[in-house]
Amino acid sequence: MGRAALIVHGGAGDRPAAQRASSQAAVEAALEAGWAAIAGGALAAVMAAVRLMEDAPPLNAGLGACLNADGEAELDAGVMLGDDLRAGAVGAVRDLRHPVDLARAVMEDGRHVLLVGEGAARFAAERGIERCDPALFVAARAGAPPPADTVGAVARDAGGHLAVAVSTGGIAGKRPGRVGDSPLPGAGFYADDEAGAACGTGVGEGFIRTVLCHRAVERLAASAAAEVAEEGIGHLARRIGGRGGLIVLGRQGPPAAAWNTAHMAWAMRHEGS
Ligand code: GLY
Repeated sequence: MGRAALIVHGGAGDRPAAQRASSQAAVEAALEAGWAAIAGGALAAVMAAVRLMEDAPPLNAGLGACLNADGEAELDAGVMLGDDLRAGAVGAVRDLRHPVDLARAVMEDGRHVLLVGEGAARFAAERGIERCDPALFVAARAGAPPPADTVGAVARDAGGHLAVAVSTGGIAGKRPGRVGDSPLPGAGFYADDEAGAACGTGVGEGFIRTVLCHRAVERLAASAAAEVAEEGIGHLARRIGGRGGLIVLGRQGPPAAAWNTAHMAWAMRHEGS
């Protein structure tokens, strides 16, 4: 029986009801794109899903990213593989059409895990990662309603390998230079084939302080995904009054999601386990 599974989120937050349909449509399109790629492995699936969401104006990543206090976009992204725990991430990048592509390049290069600022921009140029005019992000937000938080995807392929990818504009009005949880393995994302994989969405400082995704993955070794997702969000709220959402996936069984904000756009698909 196949073991493939994919879960995708388009951010937890308090988006008004009028914005929910467009966010959900973007997430469902991302699920389709990821599922269509899953035969190529878990990494292919999460990359396809997150790249598509980076192109979706209703979602807070890539083109739809929120702006900082200076009215500029600073984007974070991360990716991780469960088989050998390789990870790559970028923080506060300003001119990349798909920040998750650079996170993948950092991971595949293997020398470092996290690149930020000018060094990240130089590495992007070296690797031929698609650049764009930062004004594109400012124009995309003009007159648009504030987006929710972050996009992410977690996949398990037919071979049982896990991968996670995440991308975000962070928090609207954040201080320039602020980096959230999304490029920090363990905080905003984590994957380990021996246990499971998780991706977070919400106020990143809370996920950093609780190292919430690593905590969730450790628990996936012994507990079902639905239980782990609920427990993780409960822990976030109880320990620090945090708000957000989690998507999780174990070595077997279906994925699960939990959130304690007004809304989280998400979708999942899985084969029998
Ligand atoms: N969760 C995304 C951020 O806080 O930046």
